[in-house]
Amino acid sequence: MNSYSVKELLSKQPLGDSVEVNGWVKTFRSNRFIALNDGSTIHNVQCVVDFENFSEDLLKQITTGAALKITGTLVESQGRGQQVEIQASDVFVHGTADPETYPIQPKKHSLEFLREKAHLRVRTNTFSAVMRVRSALAFAIHSYFQKNDFYYMHPPIITGSDAEGAGEMFRVTTMEPKNIPVDEQGEVDYSGDFFGKETNLTVSGQLEAETYAMGLGKVYTFGPTFRAENSNTSRHLAEFWMIEPEMAFYDLDANMDLAEDFIKSIVTYVLDNCQDDLEFLEKRLLDEEKSKPQNERSEMALIEKLKFVVENNFKRVTYTEAIDILRNSKPNKKKKFQFPIDEWGADLQSEHERFLVEKHFKCPVILFDYPANIKAFYMRLNEDGKTVRAMDVLFPGIGEIAGGSQREERLEVLQQKISDLGIEEKELWWYLDLRRFGTAVHSGFGLGFERMVQFATGMGNIRDVIPYPRTPQNAEF
Ligand code: 4AD
Ligand code: MG
Repeated sequence: MNSYSVKELLSKQPLGDSVEVNGWVKTFRSNRFIALNDGSTIHNVQCVVDFENFSEDLLKQITTGAALKITGTLVESQGRGQQVEIQASDVFVHGTADPETYPIQPKKHSLEFLREKAHLRVRTNTFSAVMRVRSALAFAIHSYFQKNDFYYMHPPIITGSDAEGAGEMFRVTTMEPKNIPVDEQGEVDYSGDFFGKETNLTVSGQLEAETYAMGLGKVYTFGPTFRAENSNTSRHLAEFWMIEPEMAFYDLDANMDLAEDFIKSIVTYVLDNCQDDLEFLEKRLLDEEKSKPQNERSEMALIEKLKFVVENNFKRVTYTEAIDILRNSKPNKKKKFQFPIDEWGADLQSEHERFLVEKHFKCPVILFDYPANIKAFYMRLNEDGKTVRAMDVLFPGIGEIAGGSQREERLEVLQQKISDLGIEEKELWWYLDLRRFGTAVHSGFGLGFERMVQFATGMGNIRDVIPYPRTPQNAEF
């Protein structure tokens, strides 16, 4: 027996063959037409059951969500919208799904409702499409770096360092005495603790990636990172995945070139390999936009937007130029920015980033040379003594999608910086060693994986592009 996935069946179309397919029922119409899907594609295969040939008992078990194995002959379809269908000769029920209690019914469920059903939502068209695109993006990312001679490096998840110096860490170990039980011999028992050292979940693998770049040349990380920050926005998660390339002998210009080429390459991969899912997601967005006022609708459809990013140069602008633009602008005729930009040195909010990208330049923007005091300690100080070689990649609909910098490679300058910040040198002795032994210009950046998936799928809320979003609201999964 030839067992096929739905995707294979629809693309190979082995007409006349006896075939077998497994999947879940999307719909069952007229006691005759089963739309079956197995997750391999957004499309369903139609299976026709002649109810005269099947027991009533079996037909009753064919409801939305039930898992079936269908055997039959692949024939040309009489119906519209599909080329082939299976004339079923046998239906095996792997498992039923009681229509009274199965939450995913063949109607439009709200994304909010589906968030409460995170374990089942991947059975909907929207989530299966998003998760296939997510998987394709992950593959494209590895493939890009592997082709370009980067080594995949795995930084620790449990760490003592706060790479971003922003204090947004989830603690693994607190060294308060009550957390260190004493056993019968009076010795400290660290079981379940990190061997008596104060540690946290990593906020970024960058510092460790730097140590590897200064030996392997070009490396990248791709793993989960954690931020104990207010994650009640549509762009923040407490647990998100980050891709962090780090390259020895790259300056900020080379870093920007890489970021642009890398992002264009992975978006191209999705355009080339996820066409059906993108078409579905685009249509979904267009439907959603119909309910919005004209001026809030996006000017480009999803696929057009992805192509635009691939085909146009990212605009490179210094922070100082951006501030001048923002000071003289209003987001629209009536409204001012919620956080007006008055002076040089202010940090940009996402409303400013999105204004620059969506209204002013109308293309992706790389902002660089930020004021030192609003950026992390490890960034290379410019000759002006007040800006650092930082860069943020800003995207339409998203704002900051990636952030990075050339790193401070001079020992004394870095020592001064960390002492000014009140960080103890002994906490970063190994990081400073890189500047003691064979230091060199080097750079890197971090791409927020979920923000990239949001961009590629057009999903408005970051909670809908990761299987189990970690936010204050859904700790139960
Ligand atoms: O700008 P961030 O904080 O930079 C770093 O962590 C650097 N160590 C990166 C580097 O140079 N290697 O984070 C990088 C990116 C952001 O641009 C954003 O896309 C994403 O990670 N990001 C988040 N995504 C989801 N939820 C959050 N809470 C995020 N915080 C940052
Ligand atoms: Mg950033």
